[in-house]
Amino acid sequence: MSAIAPTIPVIAIDGPTASGKGTVAQRVAAALGYHYLDSGALYRLVALRALRAGITPDDGVALAALVATLQPRFADRITLDGEDVTDAIRREEVGVMASRIAVQPALRAALLDLQHRCRQPPGLVADGRDMGTVVFPDAQTKVFLTASVEARAYRRYKQLSEKGFSANLAALLQDLKERDARDSNRAAAPLKP
Ligand code: DC
Repeated sequence: MSAIAPTIPVIAIDGPTASGKGTVAQRVAAALGYHYLDSGALYRLVALRALRAGITPDDGVALAALVATLQPRFADRITLDGEDVTDAIRREEVGVMASRIAVQPALRAALLDLQHRCRQPPGLVADGRDMGTVVFPDAQTKVFLTASVEARAYRRYKQLSEKGFSANLAALLQDLKERDARDSNRAAAPLKP
């Protein structure tokens, strides 16, 4: 991080999956002309790569090593190694894998620098689980956005259906409950206000 970075304002928006924090964060960033960091997308990109490479979620060293070669491009679409992965990383199996690998302290540490480098003038809106607690503890504004697990499962169901993916509401509800428990109870940077 550069010496001037702490003077650049950060708005941290944390919360559980499918709470709508991404939508809110993007709108706030657009309204203020700030940069936007979707930290969940970073975990999803690593998850996608790990699934393709056959790396298991308990292999923290191999997962952290994947980050060194990660050069994502975030614009309207997200590209990885020249491939448009915008839709691929939103698949439910990738989200579940992201939540499973996110318990690894080595991976979280490896992703820190990438996230800090997003703090550019005139400011940053960062969305995730640990933006206000770990990544940008000096953020000027910290928001914790949540909703009932039922409302979030329905939201995710609509998102997936609109993208043409098959979705089952009961299975999604179960999935979200398991991810909430994993994201909230892990030792490294757990989800908390
Ligand atoms: O916000 P999301 O659903 O795209 O995030 C996917 C997973 O990534 C989430 O279940 C946990 C992990 N994650 C994290 O551990 N820390 C973050 N700052 C963002 C996401």
